[in-house]
Amino acid sequence: MTPKKRSYPYLLDGKLQRTGKLSDVTNPYDGSVVGRYYKLPEASVEQAIASTAAASAAAQALPAHARAAALVYISGQIEKRAEEFAQLITSENGKPLMWSRGEVARGISTFRWAAEEARRFSGELQRLDTEASATGRIAVVRRFPRGPILGISPFNFPLNLVAHKIAPAIAAGAPILLKPAGSTPLTAMLLGSIIAETELPAGMVNIVAIPGKEMDTLVTDPRLPVITFTGSGAVGQGLLDKAPRKHHTLELGGNGAAIVAPDWDDLDKAADRLATFANYQAGQSCIAVQRIYVHKDQYDAFIKLLTKKVKALKTGDPAKSTTVVGPVIDEGEATRIVDWIGEAKKAGATVLTGGRRRGTTVAPTVLVDVPKNAKVSNDEVFGPVLTVKAYRTLDEAFRLVNDSRYGLQAGVFTKNIETAFRAHRELQVGGVIVGDVPSFRADQMPYGGWKESGVGREGIASAIEDYTEARVMVLTGLDL
Ligand code: SIN
Repeated sequence: MTPKKRSYPYLLDGKLQRTGKLSDVTNPYDGSVVGRYYKLPEASVEQAIASTAAASAAAQALPAHARAAALVYISGQIEKRAEEFAQLITSENGKPLMWSRGEVARGISTFRWAAEEARRFSGELQRLDTEASATGRIAVVRRFPRGPILGISPFNFPLNLVAHKIAPAIAAGAPILLKPAGSTPLTAMLLGSIIAETELPAGMVNIVAIPGKEMDTLVTDPRLPVITFTGSGAVGQGLLDKAPRKHHTLELGGNGAAIVAPDWDDLDKAADRLATFANYQAGQSCIAVQRIYVHKDQYDAFIKLLTKKVKALKTGDPAKSTTVVGPVIDEGEATRIVDWIGEAKKAGATVLTGGRRRGTTVAPTVLVDVPKNAKVSNDEVFGPVLTVKAYRTLDEAFRLVNDSRYGLQAGVFTKNIETAFRAHRELQVGGVIVGDVPSFRADQMPYGGWKESGVGREGIASAIEDYTEARVMVLTGLDL
């Protein structure tokens, strides 16, 4: 007999609740049931909104030490239960254990950073006696929450992208209603059970699986004036259209590019990093490497190294700690990715390795001679697929990187400081990683996109800024 799978309650109004329909979550690799979660009953959607809105005053009144203490507690509990979190992420998302463990380490750090920012979050003094008319006056500039937040998180980082929504909200003193991804809600529910143990006011953090048809109610409800969303461009645009007057932070897709500059002499290292980070989490990261530009004189040698390294990536069961590439989230996605490769092939591209799938696992794929208008060049593949192209001059390489409707992060393999600063100045992206892949992200740094990659920035201090608005208090009649 198969063991009974655990049922995960949701966090609403400070309590773990077990009402509503139970739904199964299945493992993308083998289809087995991982666990079950309670879907929020339709009749409770109003309670979820009202509870979040009602927590505003208590959340804002919470002293910094109390916010920080809750964040430290959450970080510590994730650390204590790190392996449980990693196993759960791997089971429900299909991400190989090595990447799940990395994600858990980041989740611990995200909450710890938020605790530090909660203590630092103060405001500034501005002197106003710069004009004779304002002699004796000074401004105190502080930031206050824009209001309760609706957070919508994606499947590709079931813990850390939930953390990036919730942790800065707690630090800023803003209540948040978080809806996790439908395919990976269990990690968020487990996190909710830890948050339920803190002293945070009831309703300050609600984590509930909202029925799809109820989402519009939340998106348009004026009691949730801030929306933070990570996911597809189409859904992000839909949120802007449905709630144009709300404040949005949108982390949308990318088609991450990397330049290997002519001065870079360690092609083996570049090939190694690029092969790995095109395929980590089966390419399901907005900053996974998708496009590589290599100087024509290094192209042949680089292609040889890259293809060898991509072929060597251990692909298969994500539960094995040696596996590097696991499945994508479902069969529909696997089919789409292989269809896009087929479309590129038909248009003249050559597949150097990969191009096939078995079930939900897509073989790591390297494509060359890809026409400019192919989907694998222009759109976000969100799968283990790389395109490589030779360039003649750095001008051309910079143009190729910028010739995209996306602009999240770019990697530039160079040791030349002028090339590095030029990349920083000219590449139309939210982050330039010098000497490494575009996939590097430290959780405290500003993270977000230009162009269709989104609006606003995450990264704890940036998200706190985004969740809050400045309010000035002018003091008058002072002897300064
Ligand atoms: C994303 O896919 O947008 C998040 C990437 C990361 O946090 O590393």
